[in-house]
Amino acid sequence: MEVFKVNRNIAQLIVLQRIELIGPILKKLRKLFGRYIYSNFLSKYFINVSEISNKYYLLMENEYKYIDSFLKNGQNILSVGAGVGGLELLIYQKKKNIRLTFIEKNYISKKIVYGWDDKNNEAYNDLNLLEKFLLKNNMGNESFQIFDFDKNDLPNKKFDLIISLYSLDFHYNFELYKSYFQKVSTQETVIIFDTIRPDYFHTIFEEVKIIKKDSNTLHKSKRIACKCFKN
Ligand SMILES: C[S@@+](CC[C@H](N)C(=O)[O-])C[C@H]1O[C@@H](n2cnc3c(N)ncnc32)[C@H](O)[C@@H]1O
Repeated sequence: MEVFKVNRNIAQLIVLQRIELIGPILKKLRKLFGRYIYSNFLSKYFINVSEISNKYYLLMENEYKYIDSFLKNGQNILSVGAGVGGLELLIYQKKKNIRLTFIEKNYISKKIVYGWDDKNNEAYNDLNLLEKFLLKNNMGNESFQIFDFDKNDLPNKKFDLIISLYSLDFHYNFELYKSYFQKVSTQETVIIFDTIRPDYFHTIFEEVKIIKKDSNTLHKSKRIACKCFKN
């Protein structure tokens, strides 16, 4: 099986970003020792790196299937809150001449709280490790750019596709990016993200299509593909 090349630090980020990848023992330890010890110690030293790499690869292959029909060669893609970027790596590998722009945060919260975060304080990424993961897995360094949401001016160019899995409007309000997306999208740009309030987005976009339903998770979210801002 093809898998991603991952070291322990990157595997730690992966389990922080995708808590469903940890097994029952680590889940119990998290409950027992609390979020601080879990976020800073258990998630790093109580994981099997190659197992996390395998599971993350399979998860991202599955996510790829949901967005495949929106992908074309030569696209300019923006990814908001990509985590370590496994999905984006698969897009790069499967399509030709893809250009990727990442907007992410560059810190790990001391005690990660998963859920709605009105202040958008929660983050679990390290931009050096994001870059390392992409380069280690042979993404050409001319094919991507990484922007720190809290520090950099965000890029001013048009994107063909904008993706934000389990990040925008799942953990923090869509409003945070709304005017930026209006600036960097065209009538043809497709914006894909997970939300628990898909109906609300009919007031914002001309087209809203549900492409995935997560009924088993706590959040019961839907993944929507939206196009064309109203007015
Ligand atoms: C639950 S993880 C999902 C990661 C990845 N999309 C995936 O599906 O595996 C949410 C990510 O959003 C990032 N994040 C939080 N606030 C953000 C913001 N304002 N802009 C961009 N990314 C943000 C976090 O650092 C974290 O990596």
